[in-house]
Amino acid sequence: MQQDRLWNEWHPVCKAEELLEDPKQVFVLGERVVIFRNDKGVHAFKDLCIHRGAALSLGKVKNGNLVCAYHAWEYNCAGACEKIPALPSGRAIPKKARATVYHCEEYLGLIWVNLGDDPAPLISFPEYSMEGYRTAICGPYEVKANAPRIIENFLDVSHLMFVHEGLLGDEDHAEVVDYKVEFADNRLITSKIPVYQPNPDGRSQGGYANYVYEILNPTTARFTKTTEGSDEELTILLAVNQEDHEQAKAFMLLTRNYDLDKPDEPFIEFQDTIFYQDLDIVQSQKPELLPLDLQAELHLKSDALTIAYRKWLNELGVENGTNPIQDEGGKKVTVK
Ligand code: FES
Ligand code: CO
Repeated sequence: MQQDRLWNEWHPVCKAEELLEDPKQVFVLGERVVIFRNDKGVHAFKDLCIHRGAALSLGKVKNGNLVCAYHAWEYNCAGACEKIPALPSGRAIPKKARATVYHCEEYLGLIWVNLGDDPAPLISFPEYSMEGYRTAICGPYEVKANAPRIIENFLDVSHLMFVHEGLLGDEDHAEVVDYKVEFADNRLITSKIPVYQPNPDGRSQGGYANYVYEILNPTTARFTKTTEGSDEELTILLAVNQEDHEQAKAFMLLTRNYDLDKPDEPFIEFQDTIFYQDLDIVQSQKPELLPLDLQAELHLKSDALTIAYRKWLNELGVENGTNPIQDEGGKKVTVK
């Protein structure tokens, strides 16, 4: 059940600009995947040639088809093999000569892969295409941790004053006011949470910022940060790809409606700093799999959002962020 849910979610695998004429190998939920681009768009297959098991990502794209590097079988973007050079002319290509096709989309400046038969809808992130907003892509950040631990760190308010002391928080303003979490429009959303921030986005303009957090799916969350008396809005979307049971890759979309004529780099560098401040903590957390049994760790009222996240994962049957892999029979199994 759990593996099916994540199996049917969209996972960000690389920046769209990184997928050029050569196919590329990526990993999703322990699955080796090849992505490639042709005139029709972007495509994802299991990274395995049915002939002798070579990685299709070692091949190339020719006339829109993915050509295996080993014996040059040519697969069209629907996965059907169209050409087998070793086959004498007149002989039919075996029907079984196919690649396993996955869903693949170019969206929000990223390439997303979905392994499932019943794909969930792509997340909605309207700010990306809204006039007056500008988005910078941060990452990918490599993290040796499970996606739910990474998402939970992003949702955690009461660490800001310590891990990000002097930037996103101040030790003398560590109290977290009570806030609400509700489920609306298929996502969890909080009321505004005020946090005193000495340097909220790298511009050293301190003050109280109001955070509104949203959890869009088990591996995607966002917050929008505003300041009283200002129209400025900063939204950060975090999308995590669980590559295998040890490794995840995190992408962040940083969208702002101010300093539109300024370069993105200082904002990205600031976000890099913040992310690396969290990294050791997240990678140190035990157990590696987020405990969904609420008795397992100790909670405070200020943890209301992360408690809601754990409950929601539980309801969705994302048991504890374990990762499915496929056994030889193609049946999904969970590796602990
Ligand atoms: Fe791919 Fe032979 S292994 S063509
Ligand atoms: Co942090």
